[in-house]
Amino acid sequence: MKNTGKWMTFFLTLSVSLVWASDGHHTEKTLKEKPKSKWDRAVQSIGVDYQKNVEPIFKVSCFDCHSGFTSYPWYHSIPGIKGMMDGDVDKAKKNLDMSNGYPFKGNGNLESDLKAITYQVDKGKMPPLKYRVMHWKSGLTEKQKQAIEDWTGRSLDKLDQAEP
Ligand code: HEC
Repeated sequence: MKNTGKWMTFFLTLSVSLVWASDGHHTEKTLKEKPKSKWDRAVQSIGVDYQKNVEPIFKVSCFDCHSGFTSYPWYHSIPGIKGMMDGDVDKAKKNLDMSNGYPFKGNGNLESDLKAITYQVDKGKMPPLKYRVMHWKSGLTEKQKQAIEDWTGRSLDKLDQAEP
């Protein structure tokens, strides 16, 4: 029949284009996974740097207040103290939430967050004194402070260079 040939061509074209399309889709996907702009690449590189050099410190010294992973000390069960701590953890997370890695969530932007971290760490304001006197979270060592500030410094440079 005359039509069979037509249908054969149709199906052949269809299957070829399906394979083609899925291949094209694959390429597009790998492209999508790559960071697009200079800015995205900078943010990604800061994240890798963070994971390696800073997150282990933050996990111990900051996550209790700045993330969803809070492990409370025994005195959290004391009425009054509980309320104060819960309120502070709420506030801390609103300011800066480290739960999902870098970039952090919270009310700042990437640059203001890095600057705020540098400031708080440099001035020895974090973890807050009232908690340090209760020995819930002891303060950062000089070496840890240096590692954090080196990271914020490198990261601000990266963002600076990536800015259009
Ligand atoms: C015991 C709880 C606690 C721990 C631990 C803690 N913080 Fe905080 N942090 C807070 C609270 C509460 C605030 C909000 C202060 C306010 O709004 O007055 C805050 C605010 C901040 C801010 C200010 C955010 C902004 O936008 O200005 C930064 C930066 C910060 N913390 C960094 C850190 C870092 C880095 C660590 C770990 C080295 C840390 N904090 C550990 C409770 C904590």
